[in-house]
Amino acid sequence: MTMPAPPLRHYLSFQDFTADEYAYLFERSRIIKKRFKNYEKYHPLADRTLAMIFEKASTRTRVSFEAGMYQLGGSVVHLTTGDSQLGRAEPIEDSARVISRMVDLVMIRTYEQAKIEGFAAHSRVPVINGLTNEFHPCQILADLFTFIEHRGKGSEGNQGLDCLHGKTVAWIGDGNNMANTWLQAAEILGFTVHVSTPSGYEVNAALARIKNTACVKVFNHPMEACAGAHLVTTDVWTSMGFEAENEERRKAFIDWCVDEDMMAVAAPDALFMHCLPAHRGEEVTAEVIDGPQSVVWDEAENRMHVQKALMEFLLLGRVGGG
Ligand code: CP
Ligand code: NVA
Repeated sequence: MTMPAPPLRHYLSFQDFTADEYAYLFERSRIIKKRFKNYEKYHPLADRTLAMIFEKASTRTRVSFEAGMYQLGGSVVHLTTGDSQLGRAEPIEDSARVISRMVDLVMIRTYEQAKIEGFAAHSRVPVINGLTNEFHPCQILADLFTFIEHRGKGSEGNQGLDCLHGKTVAWIGDGNNMANTWLQAAEILGFTVHVSTPSGYEVNAALARIKNTACVKVFNHPMEACAGAHLVTTDVWTSMGFEAENEERRKAFIDWCVDEDMMAVAAPDALFMHCLPAHRGEEVTAEVIDGPQSVVWDEAENRMHVQKALMEFLLLGRVGGG
């Protein structure tokens, strides 16, 4: 029996799904992860192909999407700017029209959000944001699943969003793609983000595309942002594409290094997260990232499990049973 394809949906920012859909995705992620850990074969995407387009470097995003798609029974095509016509100025709209006639799903890592939106507008198949200058929704999906795993009511059955309500996430550092996505998640899922950035690197509600600024509180000093936080998180001082600002940023961000003093003022059971790759001694000390409150390796692994649930959802819609 052939299943009807669900309506075409893209995952370009965290705002593309509702809280109810996130609850579903986290539950599917839990089931899919458990199957993987038990070596149970699960091939719902047999004969489906994912095209992965990378215009920036990646370790986690590439491995998690590629391994995840194979584990679901599908296959992948890997393209980069350098080895495709994308690097020779073929219009993004034309690339979208062509690639989406040959594959079932596309993941793109690129620069401007407008570029992935341009691709999606001309794509016949779902497009997933694997990081843009503005957003990194797959990472926040993994981070929230990791928080729920550690702070939810246990690994069986209850992967609801309740454990996020009323919680505080401290964002320390650059007002970048990760910060913007945290703000989007806070608005949709009902938690608060305490943000501390150096002057000139602030978050901006319009760029983050959030309407309810009550979910964001801005602090000049990172210690103030960390006070009472249930999760402390940071990212590199210089994101991909901004390398020319590296020296200037190294000076501006010197006090935005998550250290044990910051973790000490957070909630006693606060978790530490970092999307990775990390620079020990810059945005975080080795004591914190390699310390007992850090869950960065779970976070990285969970990229694969949540993205398998995401690909299943985009291609098959809600599936019944376990
Ligand atoms: N966190 C993340 O997206 O890592 P990569 O840049 O290695 O894909
Ligand atoms: N903010 C970082 C995240 C890397 C996964 C960047 O865009 O380079």
